[in-house]
Amino acid sequence: MQGPTGCPVSHNAAAFDPFEGPYQVDPAEALRWSREEEPVFWSPKLGYWVVTRYDDVKEIFRDNQTFSPSIALEKITPPSDEAVETLKRYDYGMNRTLVNEDEPAHMERRRALMHSFTLEELEHHAPMVRRLTREYVDRIIDKGEADLVDEMLWEIPLTVALHFLGVPEEDMDTLREYSIAHTVNTWGRPSPEEQVAVAEAVGKFWQYAGKVLEKMRQNPDGHGWMKYAIRRQAELPDVVTDSYLHSMMMAGIVAAHETTAHATANMLRLLLENRAVWEDICENPSLIPNAVEECLRYSGSVAAWRRITVNDTQVGEHFIPAGSKLLIVSASANHDGRHFENPDDLDIYRDNATDHLTFGYGAHQCMGKNLARMEMRIFLEEFTRRLPHMAIVPQEFTFVPNTSFRGPEHLWVRWDPARNPERADP
Ligand code: HEM
Repeated sequence: MQGPTGCPVSHNAAAFDPFEGPYQVDPAEALRWSREEEPVFWSPKLGYWVVTRYDDVKEIFRDNQTFSPSIALEKITPPSDEAVETLKRYDYGMNRTLVNEDEPAHMERRRALMHSFTLEELEHHAPMVRRLTREYVDRIIDKGEADLVDEMLWEIPLTVALHFLGVPEEDMDTLREYSIAHTVNTWGRPSPEEQVAVAEAVGKFWQYAGKVLEKMRQNPDGHGWMKYAIRRQAELPDVVTDSYLHSMMMAGIVAAHETTAHATANMLRLLLENRAVWEDICENPSLIPNAVEECLRYSGSVAAWRRITVNDTQVGEHFIPAGSKLLIVSASANHDGRHFENPDDLDIYRDNATDHLTFGYGAHQCMGKNLARMEMRIFLEEFTRRLPHMAIVPQEFTFVPNTSFRGPEHLWVRWDPARNPERADP
C-alpha cells in the first residue's frame, strides 16, 4: 500500500486506529513504535498524517502560518446525509472561534478577549472553586466509596466553566449530554445511526447556546468571559463578530469543561496508582503545583490536536504536500525520551514538566491553562487533606472513543470514613 506521496505504508501505520483499544487506553504507549521507528506516518484508516515526536509536534504548533488550525473543530468522521439534514434543521452554524481561526484575525481577537484570563481576573474564581470542591467532598466523605467522575469531577469543572463564561447554572444535566455529543460529533467515529442522535443533541446544544447568548445580551454587565466579549463587540464589531459569539458560546463550554474534568480524573487516577507519590504530596502539599504539571504531561486530557498544511512543506524528513491533514499527538510527544528524561516515570520533581504540549504551544496555546491549573491544584489540596487514605478500587477503565479528549468515564475509589482526619481530629 502507498501513501499520498507515493511512500510505502508500513504494517504498523496501516493498522493504526485511534478509535480502538490501545490508543484509547494509552495513546503514548500505542505510538511508542512510531516515536522510535517512524515518527511521521500516513494513516490510511484516518486519512491523516500522524506526527508523534516532541520536536516535530512543537514545531507544527509553533508555525501556524504553514500548519493552519482551521480544521481543529472539523468533524473527523464525515457526517452522513441524514446527520447533515438534522443539523440543518437546527440552523447549526459552528464556525471560526479562536482555536480554528487563522491569522491575522486570530491574534486580533485573542488580544481583544484576553483580559478575562489574567491572573488577577482568575483570582475572582478561586473562592468559588474552593467552595464547590468542599461542598462536593462533604457529600461523599462519609460514604466510604465513590465514583469520583460521576459524583464530582464532571460537575465541578462544568459549574466552574459556566461561571467563568457568565452562563446561568441551570440545565446542567442537559448540558452534560450535549457536550459529550459535541465531542463525539467532532472527534469521534459514530455509526450512521449514532450520527443522527448525536446531530440532534448537537443541534439542541447549538440552539441552547444561542438562547443563553441572547439572555446575556440583555444584561452583559459583571464577570464572565462571554459577557466581556459581548461588551467588546460594541467597540470592535469586526473582530468580535456575531458568528464568533454564537460559536464560542458552544465551543467555550466544551473547551473549559471537558478538558478540565478529564484532566482531574486522569490526575487522581495516576497519583492513586502511584501510591508513594500520592503519599509524598499528602505529606508535603507544596509539591502540588509541579505534580499537577507532571500529571498533565504524563496523562493529559487532550491527547492530540489537528492542523492542515497551507503550502508544500516538510516534517522531519517527510515531504508533506499542501492541503494535508495532520494529527499531532501531544500525548506521544510528552513521552518522547529525546525531550523528557525517563519519560515513562511519573516524577513530580521533574524540572521540565511544564514543557509538556498538552495545552498546545505558540500563538494558539490554551488561554484557559491557568484556570485549569487552579482547579486541579484546589482539587488536589482538598483531597490530600481530607481523604489522604483514599485508595483506588481495581477496575477496568472505559473512554469515549475519539482522537483527542481523553479521561476515564468512571473512577471508583474507596476509603474508611473512620480514618478521615476530620473524624479523628475534629
Ligand atoms: C485552546 C487544551 C482548559 C480555553 C486549547 C488547545 C489545547 C487546549 C490543546 C489548542 C492549542 C493550540 O492549538 O496550540 C486544554 C486542556 C485544558 C484546557 C488540556 C485542561 C486541562 C481550558 C479552559 C478554558 C480553555 C478551562 C477556559 C475557557 C481555551 C481557548 C483556546 C484553547 C479559548 C483557544 C486559544 C487560541 O486559539 O488562541 N486548549 N484546555 N481551555 N483553550 Fe484550552
